[in-house]
Amino acid sequence: MSDVRERAGLGRDVGADHGDVIRAIEPAVKDNVDLLMPLDKTWQPSDYLPDLEAGDWREQVEHFRTTAETISDDLLVVLVGDMVTEEALPSYSMSLNGLVRDEEGTSPAPWSQWLRGWTAEENRHGDLLNAYLRLTGRVNMRAVERTVHPSSPTASTRRPMAIPTASSSTPRSRSVPRGFRTATPGGSQPGKATGTSAGSAG
Ligand SMILES: [Fe+2]
Repeated sequence: MSDVRERAGLGRDVGADHGDVIRAIEPAVKDNVDLLMPLDKTWQPSDYLPDLEAGDWREQVEHFRTTAETISDDLLVVLVGDMVTEEALPSYSMSLNGLVRDEEGTSPAPWSQWLRGWTAEENRHGDLLNAYLRLTGRVNMRAVERTVHPSSPTASTRRPMAIPTASSSTPRSRSVPRGFRTATPGGSQPGKATGTSAGSAG
């Protein structure tokens, strides 16, 4: 530990807490903050989704959903987990702003600039995952939303993370995680949130 602290210029008499590390590497952050992509050049979630303003939006959505039918239930579970994680971004952002002592989120300091860029990037991840999963018609988004916003502190432990709706003709050869429902020919309407609980999903 002492070697690490000395290399970071902290000295032996300084406690190595998070603040020490943050301050020690701030010069490196300053040198690299220009790596953040300018707003007019960065990608946006819409770049990867059907264009619902286009004249052929129906064909685009149909192609999108046909492609999405090839996604396994296992991968859907992962994507839902990713989305829920991304959508916790306000918590991460608040705690990180506290770490760099930028309570207002407006500081011009290198760390603050970097964190704002990182937050914007992560927000796009969450937006894209949410829109993508919703458009597949294979995830019960209302069940996901209930999990993200439980009505009581203990409610989230009883509620399903997500329930794909029946829309895919893709054979399911593996068991489906608890909280998910396998695609059933002639089953519930694709893309329609049913609010079915994990208990009834099996
Ligand atoms: Fe992300």
